[in-house]
Amino acid sequence: MKMPLDSLQELPPDSITSLMTAYRQDPFPAKLDLTIGVYRDRTGRTPVMSAVATAEHALINAQSSKAYLAPAGVPGFLEGIHDLVFGELAQSIRPRSALIQTPGGCSALRIGAEILHRARAGSSILLGEPTWALHDGLLAGGGLRLDRFPCYDSASRRFVPGPMLDALRRAAAGTAILLQASCYNPTGANPDPDSWREILDVIEARGLVPFFDVAYQGLGRGLDADVAWVREAARRLPQFLVAVSCSKSFGLYRERTGLLCAVAGSAERRGAIESQLQNIARSMHSMPPAHGALLVERVLTDPTLRETWQAELAAMAARLQALRGTLAGEIAALRPELDLGWLTRQQGMFSLLGIGPDDVRLLRERHHVYLVGDGRINIAGLNEDNLATVAQALAPLLR
Ligand code: LMR
Repeated sequence: MKMPLDSLQELPPDSITSLMTAYRQDPFPAKLDLTIGVYRDRTGRTPVMSAVATAEHALINAQSSKAYLAPAGVPGFLEGIHDLVFGELAQSIRPRSALIQTPGGCSALRIGAEILHRARAGSSILLGEPTWALHDGLLAGGGLRLDRFPCYDSASRRFVPGPMLDALRRAAAGTAILLQASCYNPTGANPDPDSWREILDVIEARGLVPFFDVAYQGLGRGLDADVAWVREAARRLPQFLVAVSCSKSFGLYRERTGLLCAVAGSAERRGAIESQLQNIARSMHSMPPAHGALLVERVLTDPTLRETWQAELAAMAARLQALRGTLAGEIAALRPELDLGWLTRQQGMFSLLGIGPDDVRLLRERHHVYLVGDGRINIAGLNEDNLATVAQALAPLLR
């Protein structure tokens, strides 16, 4: 008799985590991991941010129970992240914001997709390509159809607004569109201010619903600048969603700390949306994990910790931008004919190098330098010790 589990086929390996595993198994001492998006300091470590470490000591000493929290999560965390995202608009938008704490930004995307699907079964979400490898699964897993358009020009290495604007103009009222707020994963190329304005104009005129993915607040141009267009949406639009990840901005990767905010057209509608969000979460993971959210709450509410965290985050962003400049300089010394302006113009942890899978394999097999198969580099994996070697390995491959 054939049992149900016997029918399952083996799937191809995950494009990012499989490389993380291959890297860990490589015995070569000078191997280099430029794959998964984790911040690394100049010694190659992913540090616990010092404000988070201080909060953690205090939390462990103060904590007397592991009983469940509220289904929506830690109230101070929800308010703190809501304030961080909306800044001076936070108070005015709060009556319309339905909030739920989620296990990482991933679950926020998944629950957001599911509530959009519940609100309008069979609806689709517009998705620019290339995009983060997990967006497909998280959004389709929530029941949405994916309607894709290209958003990156590999020749100029810039975001291209045309296909997105066309897709928005064609979309039925109420259609959702996924927008990465800053530090676009994997291209590093976000819309410029004129494009953002035009995108929001069309969204507003056609009654569409942006779903912002905020995964790198503070790692690009700054804590406010990285969410400037989310705030602009809040000024102009009746409804939108925001998925927030604390993985990168607070270095809380493994603590799975995130939040979904669904902004309703009116304060009266908020309760209905909150009840739906909690119902979805309850049938998915029941209650959110507490630890990361309690740490974020402490960091954001203690003025000294908050100041320390902001300074550390700003230093991380500055280091990423400096590494971009140094890498461009090292490659330019070897290939002066290349235009490498894109490396410093782009923002955040990632850029697409514009090299193919064969080059990526060669880098791995010959130089023990690990990149994701689409040629995405995690800039944070570079440091003073490996930059020259990486530049030498990359220089002959770049166009
Ligand atoms: C990445 O893109 O590398 C990160 O966001 C981590 C992940 O889970 O893929």
